[in-house]
Amino acid sequence: MSAVKVSGKNKLYGNIKIQGCKNAVLPIIAASLLNGGENIIHNCPYLADVIASIKILEELGASAVFDGNTLVIDSSGISCRRVEPALMKSLRSSVVFLGPVLSRCGKAAVSMPGGCDIGKRPIDIHLTSFERMGVDVECAGDEVTCAVNKLHGERIVLPFPSVGATENIMLLAALGRGVTTIHNAAREPEIVDLQNFLNSMGARVFGAGTGNITIYAVDKLTDSEYTVMTDRIEAATFACAVAAAGGELYMEGIKPGYIRTVTNILKNSGAAVAEYPDSVYVGAPSQISCPQLVSTGPYPGFPTDAQSLLMSVMSCSKGSGVIRENIFENRFGHAQELRRLGADIIIDGRSAYVRGAALTGGQVTARDLRSGAALVVAALAAEGETTVEKAVYIDRGYDDLVGKLGSLGASIERVN
Ligand code: EPZ
Repeated sequence: MSAVKVSGKNKLYGNIKIQGCKNAVLPIIAASLLNGGENIIHNCPYLADVIASIKILEELGASAVFDGNTLVIDSSGISCRRVEPALMKSLRSSVVFLGPVLSRCGKAAVSMPGGCDIGKRPIDIHLTSFERMGVDVECAGDEVTCAVNKLHGERIVLPFPSVGATENIMLLAALGRGVTTIHNAAREPEIVDLQNFLNSMGARVFGAGTGNITIYAVDKLTDSEYTVMTDRIEAATFACAVAAAGGELYMEGIKPGYIRTVTNILKNSGAAVAEYPDSVYVGAPSQISCPQLVSTGPYPGFPTDAQSLLMSVMSCSKGSGVIRENIFENRFGHAQELRRLGADIIIDGRSAYVRGAALTGGQVTARDLRSGAALVVAALAAEGETTVEKAVYIDRGYDDLVGKLGSLGASIERVN
């Protein structure tokens, strides 16, 4: 298993260009099945989850050529074959292939998706929404079989603003007949990017970014050339890295509003933040004060994907604070690893009580994508050398995190 080795206490200085957004490009890759033609997708990050999604496309009979950060997908000849369960399990976002495959093939058999071990992560909201839209759903153990009975527009009220369920409904409703409305929809920027991509293919989707989305089904979708938005969680990761290690960083290509819930917390804790139309500056002393209380929530709330990153910052700050994780029921796995570096963290249900401490290097293990990144952030602030095992998790969502941190002055390397 590969690892990341960090020698801490180097401040970070410089500029980085934010990568294309993992959680935007994955549903856009799935949406590329819908037009049965060729789509050119720019600003596609080189990630393990993107490679896995390309493999799913190929299993379905589509083709994809990945050149630099441009992905060319041809879905003219999909075979509607069943996707290997192991492949479906390799990532959570495989579930959003359900909508496009049902739309193109009329039937789909998938196994329960995989993804990070941060909670049960059921797909009941996806499936009950599909049933309301005229899909017959049968679950047998790990297998889900869906068949379009009579697909029709529907008014759907989500019990929770699920990102994946919102995306899946948009993907199933885009082609065919009727009008589908989604209420209590997820409002994440990645949903807006999916709407923009669908509309660039000739779909008629409106309201993404608000809690109410309307999809007017169309008969056909055309080829598209599209540039994916940048990754707000990668930007949050680098903002937290500077807040933990100290230094000054310009992040280019990020819309300040997408990470403001994170940068406002850092600013209120002693970091300096400056916003520009397409970039953000973050500067920090070697130690900031501890944020008092942070609660994760659906966008525009504090992103759950940045919770572990902020816990690392709090672990090496002055004072103490509380983080509440309201989205996933098992997303504090990194606390136990941070304690190995000297962090003072008490977990009580959905709350983590953190008291800032002087961290020292050690051997830790990534449990999932964002906990892996959080352990690297903590290692930057720790005295001495830290080895983060199972760094392969980090490759799922970061296009060269090690190289980018190294370019900012961190003493960091990948070791096998
Ligand atoms: C997306 O996951 C992201 N993944 C996650 O990012 C992110 O943490 C999450 O949204 C929340 O923002 C991708 O976009 C690929 P949800 P998703 O459906 O769609 C429950 C990362 O690190 N739920 O909004 O799976 C679920 O269990 C990843 O990049 C149901 O109960 O998230 C969870 O508690 C991690 N039934 C909550 O809703 C359902 O049918 C949020 O899930 C669906 C979800």
